[in-house]
Amino acid sequence: MAEVERRLRTIGEDDFPWLDELLRYILATPGKRARPAVTLLAGHLFDFDPDVHISMAVAVELLHTASLVHDDSVDKAPLRRGVATITARHGDAVALLLGDYLFASSAEMVCATNNVRVITLFSRTLRLLADGELREIQQAFDWTGGLEEYWARVERKTASLFTTAAVSGAVLGAATETEIDAVTEYGMSLGTAFQVVDDILDLQGDASEVGKPIGSDLRGGILTLPALLYLGDHPELNEKGPFARLRDERETMTEPDREQCVDEALHLIRDSDAVENSYAVANRLADRARQALGKINRPANPALQSLMDIIDFVVQRHS
Ligand code: FPP
Ligand code: MG
Repeated sequence: MAEVERRLRTIGEDDFPWLDELLRYILATPGKRARPAVTLLAGHLFDFDPDVHISMAVAVELLHTASLVHDDSVDKAPLRRGVATITARHGDAVALLLGDYLFASSAEMVCATNNVRVITLFSRTLRLLADGELREIQQAFDWTGGLEEYWARVERKTASLFTTAAVSGAVLGAATETEIDAVTEYGMSLGTAFQVVDDILDLQGDASEVGKPIGSDLRGGILTLPALLYLGDHPELNEKGPFARLRDERETMTEPDREQCVDEALHLIRDSDAVENSYAVANRLADRARQALGKINRPANPALQSLMDIIDFVVQRHS
């Protein structure tokens, strides 16, 4: 991971200090680095090759960072990881192009692995990220798709990159097809659990720990698992009350009114069993990820325990 950090600091152009400043700003704010850790650990489960595995881990973190820079522009988000977003500091044009720069740097790193299967996985993931994000835009304030569309979004915008993080490590480590299937199941389940917990934290986390405003999903018209479970139990709230007002009066309501509706909706969800039930779903996904790792029959290896520990971290985290 130290080498991954070092390589992340080398991204940029020698003769362009402003770009360098933007890159340092976005790459130096401490993220969890969960995805590159998964790539390296999945490599260590099989045949670890520092040359290709480290390039791939850097690529995975760069793609993730690119997608966040773009996502903050899409969401008009003020804060990420406790600091102002690129879009808030420099506007959407800079966010778009910096995201593209990071994405292109990521693609170069993937190509450095010289592995067409991994390059294909990466390309597919990029397509799925954009697809998931487009679905989210389409479904903002249109909640008719319910849970089915929620899972479709999560699979594409989050689980796809966790899966690629894990599977690329396994493919580059010359794992067997059966092992790659198990690692795919691990990545999918882990990534889905990650997003469920992210969505819970958006509803009831501590803003200073989470590093971004609470209630952003509802404010943007996005219903996530806890909200969907709550509304499923209270169908009358689809027509009246704070959720319906946020949707139906969004063009006309004042900002204080909107904030009050968000606040009321958050309280309704927090006072119900929807959060607990959402954690139960995240825990079931975590179990599935553990079972998937259990299918890998290799001699005892500390990487296996670390991949297990990442599952616990993902479910228990507060940020
Ligand atoms: C954060 O999730 C966002 C994503 C997981 C993916 C966003 C993907 C894109 C914008 C497409 C990327 C395209 C390129 C070319 C890089 P979230 O919005 O649920 O979480 P948040 O609350 O942290 O914003
Ligand atoms: Mg977002």
